[in-house]
Amino acid sequence: MKWDECLLCHDAACSRSCEVLQPARLLRSLYFDNAEAVRNELGGQVPCTDCDGHCRQSCPVDLDIRGILTSLAPDKQREINYDVLKTDFCGIPLENPFLLSSSVIASTYDMCARAFEAGWAGAAFKTICLMDIVEASPRFSAIKGDNNRLIGFKNIEQLSDHSVVENIKIFKELKKNYPDKFLLVSIMGRNEEEWAYLADILNDSGADALELNFSCPNMTEENSGSDVGQIPELVERYSRVVKQHTRLPFIAKLTPNVTHIEDSAEAAIRGGADGVAAINTIKSLIEVDINPNDGIAQASIGGYSGKAVKPIALRFTAELAQDEMLDGKHISAMGGIETWRDALEFIVLGADSVQVTTAVMQYGYRIIDDLKSGLALYLQDHGFQNIKDIHKTTISGIVGTEKLDRSYVIFPRFLRDKCVGCQRCYLSCQDGGHQAIKIVDGKPVLNPDNCVGCHLCVLVCPMEAIVSSEVRVPKEKLGRI
Ligand SMILES: Cc1cc2nc3c(=O)[nH]c(=O)nc-3n(C[C@H](O)[C@H](O)[C@H](O)COP(=O)(O)O)c2cc1C
Repeated sequence: MKWDECLLCHDAACSRSCEVLQPARLLRSLYFDNAEAVRNELGGQVPCTDCDGHCRQSCPVDLDIRGILTSLAPDKQREINYDVLKTDFCGIPLENPFLLSSSVIASTYDMCARAFEAGWAGAAFKTICLMDIVEASPRFSAIKGDNNRLIGFKNIEQLSDHSVVENIKIFKELKKNYPDKFLLVSIMGRNEEEWAYLADILNDSGADALELNFSCPNMTEENSGSDVGQIPELVERYSRVVKQHTRLPFIAKLTPNVTHIEDSAEAAIRGGADGVAAINTIKSLIEVDINPNDGIAQASIGGYSGKAVKPIALRFTAELAQDEMLDGKHISAMGGIETWRDALEFIVLGADSVQVTTAVMQYGYRIIDDLKSGLALYLQDHGFQNIKDIHKTTISGIVGTEKLDRSYVIFPRFLRDKCVGCQRCYLSCQDGGHQAIKIVDGKPVLNPDNCVGCHLCVLVCPMEAIVSSEVRVPKEKLGRI
């Protein structure tokens, strides 16, 4: 997977050096799981087979860009129909389901304007409040994966440090210049009076809807943020106050730092909310200072986001979508969305719109290109007329653990040509599995008598040389029932 080594440069030299293609744009699509868009863009051929490879010469990591592109199977070109992405937010039209989530990425006029120009349907503006916000430095940390990618991201940032008046000026300007973009304004009060004040003052501010922040885990003030989101009675009470003071639709942004998110969701609906948003960040601690003498330790519990939290966010989305009290209410989902496929998973579960922060912080607003084209191509190629047709469909395959069919075993299949004999599968099966792999001539061979089909070997193989056989062998036939 050589494209994985692309640095995703801003204003990339490869694209500047090429007269026929935008190599950086195409590599970026590969990086964001959107090979289909690349094949579509290239059509039947890569038009640079005769070139002497300026792109590679200009690449800071000497990537064989032409080799990567020519290795893709050709495809016939088709027009991408972006109309399939059209949807709505509580009846307000959205050109696509992709919104910036409330955070630093949507905290100034200029940032929102650039995101809108890039193709985002709207933004949940950085939470506004009546508190004095003073931030710490540094305020981020991360768990990293290959190529320095941020896998899990921790922040201790609070809310907007601009005054409400300054922010309202921004909202008016954004609405004037981008009337068709959706402006969701996130608010947080400390008591009923503040929630009421914020709801009132935003009625004629350019905001299309409000998002009540019951979920920031980083507040220095007690009884605000996720402190509120953990107590359904408070969620209901503050939602009711906002309902009495706003003419706009509003949703409640919920905290994942609870066992049953439905309790707070239902409380918000009882209080008059038109929907919910989830998840805000998960309370976490990434690093602990182990240097006994430097005296500079300043570690704090903060909010965890990014790719690592996606499974948790999906779980909460599934639970919200299955809650009957939320039927017909808007669900805006987020947590770890980087690619169109991530977004689609949330939508299939029941999300009406999706929001993103960490991936934008890492890769920029430009990721919207692949979110849109990847999702549009998927819908087109599978015969869906509109994004809503895929919403809450059974293809997600989600069933309760009690309903899982446990009557068969699916064995792994070893691709001996790809196997390099590292024996990592053997090691994992010995120490973390069921001792079902033996080594013959330096390579793994399955012992089906011991294999339970857990697929640990498939997951740990660094060469992707073990795959699922996809054949269901009844346990009866194996004499295991
Ligand atoms: C640096 C940073 C600042 C954030 N600030 C806010 C905020 O002001 N209000 C809010 O509701 N959520 C805030 N969030 C949470 C995000 O909107 C989002 O819910 C969360 O990060 C999960 O999405 P992600 O994995 O796409 O980042 C912030 C997140 C980060 C990383």
